[in-house]
Amino acid sequence: MKNLVVVDHPLIKHKLTIMRDKNTGPKEFRELLKEITLLLSYEATRHLKCEEVEVETPITKTVGYRINDKDVVVVPILRAGLVMADGILELLPNASVGHIGIYRDPETLRAVEYYAKLPPLNGDKEVFLLDPMLATGVSSIKALDILKESGARKITLVALIAAPEGVGAVEEKHEDVKIYVAALDERLNDHGYIVPGLGDAGDRLFRTK
Ligand code: URA
Repeated sequence: MKNLVVVDHPLIKHKLTIMRDKNTGPKEFRELLKEITLLLSYEATRHLKCEEVEVETPITKTVGYRINDKDVVVVPILRAGLVMADGILELLPNASVGHIGIYRDPETLRAVEYYAKLPPLNGDKEVFLLDPMLATGVSSIKALDILKESGARKITLVALIAAPEGVGAVEEKHEDVKIYVAALDERLNDHGYIVPGLGDAGDRLFRTK
């Protein structure tokens, strides 16, 4: 798992434990996903380039630094990724936002794109793909395919929890993509859920079950 970074921080571990708890309700669950994404983004954006700018303090002129966040593109996979986008946008408010919707065909088990609205992409854009549960990796791989077909070259995947199976699958198909997560869990169960995981992230965020 050479591309995986588990952001092992007490704040993240603490907040993720509350999210895992089946008794945590949707309001707190959404807030925590947003907060953890913000903390993960601190590490996942470490490679962004800064340009030097002159700044005048009340005392004197000096050299400062600026990230060109207009070159940053945040892409949540619908629907659970939407709340993660709110987290990273707190840090990079001028980033563009693209949306990708993917479902799994129950017969072929293949990932099918049902929606994609992306800003113009090219090899200079820094793209952050957001998908809370990296389970089989099927959706993330499909979204990465779509992003690359649209011109993206620098892509970072940010997830909340990953299963080893999902990390392996993404690394095999997209070996250039770094993956940042809050936790690497044990495995997938027979229904494709991450164990121990936190259940269905979309249903817990939006109270659809
Ligand atoms: N999607 C989820 O929401 N949870 C899992 O455990 C796996 C995929």
